[in-house]
Amino acid sequence: LGQQSLQGKSVIVTAGGTRERLDPVRFLTNDSSGKMGYAVAEAAQQAGATVTLITAPTRLTPPAGVTVVPIQSTSDLAQAVLDRFPQADALVMAAAVADFQPLDVADQKIKKSADNDGLILKLRKTPDILAEVAKIKQPHQVTVGFAAETQNLLANAQHKLHSKSLDLLAANDVSRTDIGFNSDDNQVTLIDANGEQTQTPKTSKIQIATLLVDQLAKILATK
Ligand code: C5P
Repeated sequence: LGQQSLQGKSVIVTAGGTRERLDPVRFLTNDSSGKMGYAVAEAAQQAGATVTLITAPTRLTPPAGVTVVPIQSTSDLAQAVLDRFPQADALVMAAAVADFQPLDVADQKIKKSADNDGLILKLRKTPDILAEVAKIKQPHQVTVGFAAETQNLLANAQHKLHSKSLDLLAANDVSRTDIGFNSDDNQVTLIDANGEQTQTPKTSKIQIATLLVDQLAKILATK
């Protein structure tokens, strides 16, 4: 594949950990740094794509030239993705999406009280964005997911690939502390829709992103 393998293609990348508000000063989130998603946005742009980066808050600077859409919650992210996906050639969901959101968001700061030692939060499941995308996906479109697992990595990944109608899944073992969340390095197993697996070396997230974008371009070329 040449350097401009995504020339003329439009690619959406999501990144970062979503924030689910509890009250005006608190939220639930996760350990995602956004580094993997930002690296994918950069690699896709270097491959010639027009890139939209839909991002939860991170400490990172987006690559120059990409369109940045800031979001906070899973609902924001769902809306931003579903609005734009019909016009896109590919979607890479690298965002670490919260699985649960508070049932109610308090208007005022939740206060401690003398007569209560604890606080019970009621949460409900967030919408599965990739599952929603799968319903409107056209044959020419490619979707890529990430699977962060702490156990049964490959079995869970295979299931995810099929249940979310993905063309490619990057599975990584987040129980390892030398790679994954917050690290500059990663190691992933790329699994395609035929079950073909490619394990990347343990290397920089930008290298991994380049390998992922190469595979994405190959799949897009067959569509
Ligand atoms: O099912 P699980 O959350 O492990 O799947 C991970 C993949 O699904 C990631 O690509 C993530 O961005 C995406 N996801 C989603 N909507 C959710 C949760 C995860 O699209 N509510």
